[in-house]
Amino acid sequence: MSSASENIILALDVETFEEAEYFVKTLRNTIGIFKVGKQLFTRCGPKIIETVHDHKGKVFLDLKYHDIPNTVARAVEEAVKLKVFMLTIHAMGGMEMMQEAVASSISSARTMSAPPPLIVAVTILTSLRQEDLGAIGIDLPIEEAVSRLAVLAKQAGVKGVVASAQEAKRIKAACGNDFIIVTPGIRPQDTSLDDQKRVVTPKEALRSGSTFMVIGRPILKASDPLKAAQEIAREVE
Ligand code: C5P
Repeated sequence: MSSASENIILALDVETFEEAEYFVKTLRNTIGIFKVGKQLFTRCGPKIIETVHDHKGKVFLDLKYHDIPNTVARAVEEAVKLKVFMLTIHAMGGMEMMQEAVASSISSARTMSAPPPLIVAVTILTSLRQEDLGAIGIDLPIEEAVSRLAVLAKQAGVKGVVASAQEAKRIKAACGNDFIIVTPGIRPQDTSLDDQKRVVTPKEALRSGSTFMVIGRPILKASDPLKAAQEIAREVE
């Protein structure tokens, strides 16, 4: 497995366990990390995480926890028991929620003698526009709200954020070079944009400071998913 495979996360945005298992089996030598999101987890539960592990892949559990601190801490504890590599929480849950999530990840990992998962925060969902923030009483410009939430996440001990490549530079400036940036919206040259509006190529994403790239449809919908993944891995190397 190449080092590029450690930077690429395949978004397992599929409906069934069988489809997810097919992609994991087919791509496990090219891609090291598989994102399990709300749809697939609600459909399949922990079984899909075990399957990724059976094929020696790592799991990015993208359930975007956002609740009272104790509830999030207990959910994180369960995610640690499932041995996920990385998971998401919402920075909008606030400082205490993020701190408890981090503390819970460390203490439960210690109990299991395992490394704690990387916790990354979602700042402002990219589906929200300035006027949507205004409607809920947030008058800060979106970019400032993103930076502020990223700094808050860092202060809470969170290891990074999910952000577009366009936001990566600003976030690195605010939070330092070690802060992890997970970027979706990646499109290799000459592939369909699907519903993504602002996209960058894998190479551009890395250049702007992306640590991990989340890629779904350019691989899932390709006529030859393995070839598509290999081409992206080559570009990243
Ligand atoms: O198919 P595509 O490569 O566009 O998939 C990108 C993945 O990243 C999807 O799972 C999508 O939900 C996720 N994502 C995103 N934009 C965000 C946050 C997450 O596209 N701002």
